[in-house]
Amino acid sequence: MKVGLTVNGVERNVDVSSSATLVELLREGLGLTGTKVGCGRGECGACTVLLDGEPVNSCLVFAAQCEGREVLTIEGLGADRRSEAIRKAFIEAGAVQCGFCTPGMIMSTVALLRRKRHPTRDEIAEAISGNLCRCTGYVKIIDAIEKASRGV
Ligand code: FES
Ligand code: FES
Repeated sequence: MKVGLTVNGVERNVDVSSSATLVELLREGLGLTGTKVGCGRGECGACTVLLDGEPVNSCLVFAAQCEGREVLTIEGLGADRRSEAIRKAFIEAGAVQCGFCTPGMIMSTVALLRRKRHPTRDEIAEAISGNLCRCTGYVKIIDAIEKASRGV
């Protein structure tokens, strides 16, 4: 089947199987492998993308449900001030170790900072509560998001 949707600002028509998930459409249909797959069942958040502006686990969303909708992935973040501030803060705070969780963490961060410019640390922790990180212990990630929020 064909699914028509907008990915990172570009209209696409992608051939997928009727049981394909959104992350399969992105990675296999479009070659956008920045979105990772950890668990494949909605538990780790590695596959987080924005669907019509809201963070979702793209391993749980069927591609067919995305007809006519807008998807933003890590590859779609541009050189705007917010994206730059987030990238810089993650690097400077040491919030990236193996990097596997990072694309999902960053997409959750983008959604949070769009919603609230200067979130508290508790609000940051809540916003990334669906994103698992096995390396950092989360403190550096929360530091990075707080730092990014000062730069936007
Ligand atoms: S791969 Fe989607 S939540 Fe883990
Ligand atoms: S940096 Fe390795 S899982 Fe988060």
